[in-house]
Amino acid sequence: MSKRNKVMVTGGCGYIGSHTIVDLIQNGFDVFSVDSLINSKEEVLKGIEEITGKKIENYKIDLSVPGSWKAIADREPEIAGVIHFAALKAVGESVKFPLDYYKNNIGGLLEVLEWMKYSKIPDLIFSSSCTVYGNTNDLPVKEDAEFRPTSSPYGRTKQMGELIIQDFFAGFEGKSISLRYFNPAGAHESVLIGEAPSNPALNLVPVLTETAIGKRKSMTVFGTDYPTPDGSCVRDYIHVMDIAHAHTLALRHLLDGKQHSSFDTYNLGMEKGMSVLEVINAFERVSGIPIDFIRGERRPGDIAEIYANTRKAKDILNWMPTRSLDDILKTAWEWEKQRSKI
Ligand code: NAD
Ligand code: WQD
Repeated sequence: MSKRNKVMVTGGCGYIGSHTIVDLIQNGFDVFSVDSLINSKEEVLKGIEEITGKKIENYKIDLSVPGSWKAIADREPEIAGVIHFAALKAVGESVKFPLDYYKNNIGGLLEVLEWMKYSKIPDLIFSSSCTVYGNTNDLPVKEDAEFRPTSSPYGRTKQMGELIIQDFFAGFEGKSISLRYFNPAGAHESVLIGEAPSNPALNLVPVLTETAIGKRKSMTVFGTDYPTPDGSCVRDYIHVMDIAHAHTLALRHLLDGKQHSSFDTYNLGMEKGMSVLEVINAFERVSGIPIDFIRGERRPGDIAEIYANTRKAKDILNWMPTRSLDDILKTAWEWEKQRSKI
């Protein structure tokens, strides 16, 4: 490993960032976070401290504001690498407010790259998404599949983000990895941290747990007439702690000088497509709670089916997800119960 051991995690108070900080600390890294708290609360740092015994500092700045990071850059000169999670992520909201998404996600990325240039930080891990593949027919999808049109400005910020990173690293003394997550869900096994957005939950698993606990009277299955075995959409759900560990492995890979190209990409999923109705069934089984749902219209922009080929992450990063769909749903349910204190 390189001598530098300190990792900057942008968006470290958010869902995936906070779980990744736990994994980084447990694998010997020092970490600080940069998070504007636009979709999170600093309280999450207490959960991280309880799990790891380490106090983590968060610098509350908006990375999309040009130069907002300069004062911190001078205080943190010895950064080994950056894991860039900070972004807005609500697909539907991005259709309504595209400029906010371009400003925050693209503007924020440009400022992070400026910071890396200024402080000569060599390595970057970027949070990308299966959304870059758009409506692909090539399943299970591999990393070399082309970018197809994606249905939202959010998705385009991920496609553009990857292109910007490729261009930047082509002329920079450093290396970069883009991790394309499929559908992250679940919580740390301690349930001291989990998904706690400031905005209302929109993703299937938190919608399910909120329905089970009674925060919602019922939920809607968006479309049951897709060309899939039971008519509902198929996705590849992956435990957030398995996603978190992939960041530690990817960063180590770069710090150990094992990547020769300036940019590379890896899919992170379970290689298993599960339908919405199958997920609801599995949740009812693991929680013992019947879910009140209605079969509704398709949600605009949804594709019928997507799941990952993850051979590359397994072969090159030595990554192996260790948690099942049941583990995802159990931890998500335990987290919901403890948040709602019942
Ligand atoms: P999250 O909203 O929980 O975390 C993002 C964090 O970034 C938040 O704490 C937010 O306050 C912070 N942030 C946003 N804009 C900022 C800015 N300009 N400056 C500083 N901080 C800022 O989201 P998450 O689910 O943890 O997602 C993390 C990353 O992973 C995002 O880039 C997201 O697009 C990507 N991703 C998420 C999913 C998913 O389903 N959760 C799937 C694929 C990719
Ligand atoms: C999963 C399935 C819904 C809620 C999104 C982004 C993607 C990536 C992951 C960031 C779909 C169905 C959902 C509900 C439902 N994020 N559903 N009722 O849309 O696969 O992916 O998160 O990069 O870019 O698009 O995730 O959890 O919203 O939906 O029936 O109340 O559950 O239609 O089939 P999605 P999701």
